[in-house]
Amino acid sequence: MTPDGILFISLFLHLRLIDASHFRGGTITSRPYNNTPSGSSADVIVRERWSWRRSAYSPNCSPATIAAQNPKIGDSNTLSCVSGTCGGYWTGMPVPTFCTDFSAPLDVASGEYYQTYTIPLNVQFSIAFASGAWFGNLIVGGNGNWAVVGRISTVVRPDGYLNTSPVAVSLPILYKEVNVQHVHVVQMSDFDGTDILQCRWSVGGTSTINQYNECAGVCNGIPGANLIGANCTIVFTLVTPSWYVAAALQIEDFYNAAALSANTPMTSVPLQFLFYGYPTPTGCSTPPAIIGSRPNRACIGVLVGDNVTELVIIQVYCTGKSIIDYVSSVPVGMTKSAIQNPSTGIYQIVLSWVPVASQYGPQAVCVGAVDNTNIQTNQWCITFLVGFKSPDVIRPKMVQGSASPIGTIFQNHTTFSIQTSISVNRPTRNGTNIYFYFANGTLVQKYDCGWEPEVTYTGFTIVIRFPVAPWQPGAFYYVNMDSGVASGTEFCGPESAPMTDPTFWVFNIWNPALSSTTTTTTTPFTTVTVTTKPTSTTSINTLLTTTGIVVTTTSPPTTTSTAPTTAPPTTAAPTTAAPTSPGSTTESTVAVLYPKDFICLQPIAILTAAFFAAMVPVQGLALFATFTKLANTFNPSKIGAQARHRQRMKRVMKK
Ligand SMILES: *[C@@H]1O[C@H](CO)[C@@H](O)[C@H](O)[C@H]1NC(C)=O
Ligand SMILES: *[C@@H]1O[C@H](CO)[C@@H](O)[C@H](O)[C@H]1NC(C)=O
Ligand SMILES: *[C@@H]1O[C@H](CO)[C@@H](O)[C@H](O)[C@H]1NC(C)=O
Ligand SMILES: *[C@@H]1O[C@H](CO)[C@@H](O)[C@H](O)[C@H]1NC(C)=O
Ligand SMILES: *[C@@H]1O[C@H](CO)[C@@H](O)[C@H](O)[C@H]1NC(C)=O
Repeated sequence: MTPDGILFISLFLHLRLIDASHFRGGTITSRPYNNTPSGSSADVIVRERWSWRRSAYSPNCSPATIAAQNPKIGDSNTLSCVSGTCGGYWTGMPVPTFCTDFSAPLDVASGEYYQTYTIPLNVQFSIAFASGAWFGNLIVGGNGNWAVVGRISTVVRPDGYLNTSPVAVSLPILYKEVNVQHVHVVQMSDFDGTDILQCRWSVGGTSTINQYNECAGVCNGIPGANLIGANCTIVFTLVTPSWYVAAALQIEDFYNAAALSANTPMTSVPLQFLFYGYPTPTGCSTPPAIIGSRPNRACIGVLVGDNVTELVIIQVYCTGKSIIDYVSSVPVGMTKSAIQNPSTGIYQIVLSWVPVASQYGPQAVCVGAVDNTNIQTNQWCITFLVGFKSPDVIRPKMVQGSASPIGTIFQNHTTFSIQTSISVNRPTRNGTNIYFYFANGTLVQKYDCGWEPEVTYTGFTIVIRFPVAPWQPGAFYYVNMDSGVASGTEFCGPESAPMTDPTFWVFNIWNPALSSTTTTTTTPFTTVTVTTKPTSTTSINTLLTTTGIVVTTTSPPTTTSTAPTTAPPTTAAPTTAAPTSPGSTTESTVAVLYPKDFICLQPIAILTAAFFAAMVPVQGLALFATFTKLANTFNPSKIGAQARHRQRMKRVMKK
C-alpha cells in the first residue's frame, strides 16, 4: 500500500471515529401543499427532524444559532428513495436542519427542515436515512447503524383528497427510573381526521410497506417492551441504570377499517427516540412536574405574524432540588429563555415565537425539565395550530348578552349558556372545568366540560343544564372557566383562554321577599336599540334581563334596609350595563314574562346560524393550504369540496 493509501485510510478511520456515535433519532412526515388534487402532480412538503450529538457540529447549537437559523446541523447526507415508484422527482433531501433545541449536559441538539417536491399524482415510495452510527451507551444497537424510513404517497384517496401523513412528536430523550414499569403514550395525530392510526415497531428486513430495513441496529431496541398499536402505548421496564434504549416506531394511517385489516396503510411515519434509565433515587424522589401555564396536550390557535409568548412552569416537590436543564422539541424560530426561578420551588422557561407562513398547520412543542438529581418531568406537549384562531368566549352584556342568563333570575333557573366567537366542540381533555361561584368566591358547582353530560356544545353555544338549581334567594354569583372550555373544531381543537375574572359573567337570584314589596330604584333607566328575538330591531327596556325579570337594582343590595343577606363584594356586582342617561321609569314589580329556556336560547340559535354561514369558508380551509393559496380557497367552486372536508373533520371531532 502506498503511503497515500495509508494516509487515506487513517484519515478515513479518524473521520469515522470523530463522526461516529452521533445519531440520536428523528422522524419524517409529509403533507400536500394543497390537499385538493389538480393537474397531474402535487406539491408535497416533506419535513424531517433529527437529533444529534451536539458536540459533533461546530459551532455547537446555541441560542444564537437557533435565533440566526444558521449554521445548520447534521451530516452532509441525503435521504434517498429506496422502494416504490422512485423517479427523478425525488431529488434527494439534504439532511442538515435548522437547529431548534439543545441540551448541553446531555450533549444533544435537534433540528428541523422542510422541503417541497413536485411529485406526480398516484405514486408511492419510501425514503430512507440510513448511515452510522448510533452512540455507544445503547443496550441494543450501541455504535450500530441507523435507518429511518418513511413512506410518501400522492395516491388520491377514495374521498378525493390527497393524503397527509400522521404526525407523532416526542422529546429526543425521556428519563425513566429503572426497575419500575412505565407506560409511555406516544401522541399520534392526523389532519385527515377520519383516518385510523396505528403504530407498530419498526422492523428489519423488507416485509413491510417500506420494503426496506426500517431500524438497522435498533430493531427491538427496548428488551421486553410491549406496544399497544391502537393508542401507541409502550409498556416497558428499564433495568440498567445510566444506559439508553432506542424506541423505533412506525405510525401508519389507514383509510378505513377494511384497509386496516388488509394492512394497507397510505403512509408510514418513522419516529425514533431514546429512553434513559436513571437509578432509583434516594431520599425524596417525587419527580418535578410541569404545572402550567397550559395543560399537557393543549392546542392553541395562533395566526401567522402573531408574537406568541408561552410560559412553561415547573414545580419541584423535593426541598433542596432545583431545575437545571430541560430537553425540548420546538418549531423552527422559537426561542427559549434561560431557566428562571421566580419563587421557591417554581421554575419557568419563556417560549417566544413569531410563526411564519410556511409553518401553517400544527406545530408541536414538547418540554421535559430535568432536576439536579437527573430526574425528568413527564413529557409536556402542546400544539400550536398556525393560521387558526382560538375561540373567544364572548363577554356577556346586559340584555343583549352572549351569556344567558345574566342579571336577576329566578331561584329555579337551571339552564345557562354562553356564546363563542367561532363554532366550538367539547374539549378533548378531561379536567377542563366551568365553575359557578358565590360572589364571595365559594365554589357552588363545577362541571368537567371534557365529559359531563350537563354541559353540551352546539355550534357557537355552550349550554349548561343543572339537574337541580342550587341557588339561594338574594345571592350573587359569577362564572369562571378553565383554558379550553371552548375548543375550536379544527384538527386538535384550538382552545379558549382561561377566564378567571369574577366580573366576566355575573347573575343574582331574585329575592321574592325583597322585590315583591317595596323595591324602588333610584337610578334612572333608559331604552336602547338592540337586535332581539327573533329577527327584528326594536326598542326594549334595559331593565329586562335575559330572563325577563326586571332588574330592580344594578348593584348588590349593600345598604338598603330590607337587605336580607350579607352584602357581596362590589367586584362581583353586575355593573357592566349601569344605565347612564336620564329616564323616568320606576319599576316596582317583577315582569310577568317568564321565558322558557327555549326562548331564552333562541336569539343565540339564530345568531349561530348566521355566524355559521359566514364561517363556512374559514371552516373549510384545508389545514395545510398555505397563505398564498388563501384567495384560491375562497373560490366558491371550491367551497363544496371544502364543506365535504369540514364534514369529514367534524365527524372525527364527534367521536
Ligand atoms: C390503550 O389501549 C389499551 C387496550 O385497548 C387500554 O387498555 C389502555 O388503557 C389504553 N391506554 C391509554 C393511555 O389510552
Ligand atoms: C414579543 O413580545 C415580547 C414580550 O411582550 C417582546 O419582548 C418581544 O420583543 C416581542 N417580539 C417581537 C418580535 O415583537
Ligand atoms: C320557577 O319559578 C317561577 C316563579 O316562582 C315560576 O313562575 C316558574 O313556573 C318556575 N319554573 C319552573 C320550571 O319550575
Ligand atoms: C373522562 O372522565 C370520564 C369519567 O371519569 C371517563 O368516562 C372518560 O373516559 C374520561 N375521558 C378521557 C378522555 O380520559
Ligand atoms: C359565601 O356566601 C355563601 C352564601 O351567602 C355562604 O353560604 C358561604 O358560607 C360564604 N362563604 C364564605 C367563605 O364566606
